[in-house]
Amino acid sequence: DVGLNALAQRAGKLWFGTAADIPGTDETTDAAYLKILENPANFGEITPANAMKFMYTEPEQNVFNYTGGDYVLNLAERHGQRVRCHNLVWASQLSDFVNNGNWTKESLTAVMRNHIFHVVQHFGRRCYSWDVVNEALNGDGTFSSSIWYDTIGEDYFYLAFQYAQEALAEIHANDVKLYYNDYGIENPGTKADAVHNLVKELRKRDIRIDGIGLESHFEVGFTPSLQDQLSTKQGYIALGLDVAITELDVRFTQAPYYDAAGEKQQAQDYYTSVSSCIEAGPKCIGITVWDFDDKYSWVPYTFAGQGGADIYNATLQAKPAYYAIADALQGK
Ligand code: G3I
Repeated sequence: DVGLNALAQRAGKLWFGTAADIPGTDETTDAAYLKILENPANFGEITPANAMKFMYTEPEQNVFNYTGGDYVLNLAERHGQRVRCHNLVWASQLSDFVNNGNWTKESLTAVMRNHIFHVVQHFGRRCYSWDVVNEALNGDGTFSSSIWYDTIGEDYFYLAFQYAQEALAEIHANDVKLYYNDYGIENPGTKADAVHNLVKELRKRDIRIDGIGLESHFEVGFTPSLQDQLSTKQGYIALGLDVAITELDVRFTQAPYYDAAGEKQQAQDYYTSVSSCIEAGPKCIGITVWDFDDKYSWVPYTFAGQGGADIYNATLQAKPAYYAIADALQGK
């Protein structure tokens, strides 16, 4: 067992990675958890699950706090791990001053620009990429309601990428990649088509986008087929973009989470997603799971009664899904 990141890199990927909700949480001081997280054979990339989000980086207007983000970057860099920086513009986890402000299109656009410039320029080249806009679309491909969309209109989406591009250019960090990140865009359909249209509109406006983050939050037994996940990745790649699996997990919608048949199905589901990234070739640059363990998973907090979504169990032992991923990475 050489570790999933080691296998991913042998397969030509930049990484196999994980989200981590540090600092300030129980896992921050859990030695057994950290031993797995900090081993670059396991994970070549870490995504901060919360630390770089708006409410933490700009808690009050024009007052910036980079402590959490720097903590994650320092930890990752000590072990030679990359960081996908997450995220700049999202409907959720905003500061009260944003949610409660009495904004015009102009004044909120200025807030967004100021946030992007400060945060992007602070973390700079330490970020492999930024999720510039996160989860902007409804299932039917229309823009979802948020303070950004409701106040600024769809321009907010394009402006966010423009500002991120400009902020990076100012500090000569144009190699930091700019991503759109969402769920429900891993398989063909209206939402994936809408992503294609957003990319085309960015191009029309001469604004850079480098990649699409496919969150890939799935349910055991209900994941899109290999063919669907592969062809959708190929569709984004055909636009000249990179793709990454950014938040992979496969949750049980009800207990039991650890019976043999369920774990076997879950392993198959993980295998399918990882295989689609392997088959898509080097433009599917990497695979990140959203929490690697059921001990600290976000799932039970968001979906009552659901869980068991991860590749290590609640006592941090590798599950069948772990070994299925190892097989997929080796083309077995
Ligand atoms: O920071 C507070 C802490 O002070 C307080 O004591 C504690 C008590 O509940 O809550 C802490 O905040 C929590 C935060 O995570 C940090 O741990 C929030 O309640 C909780 O809602 C928040 O959940 C995060 C969720 O995004 C919010 O929507 C998850 O950890 C995080 O994994 C999840 O990540 C998202 C991605 O950003 C985007 N895609 C979906 C993904 C899963 O929902």
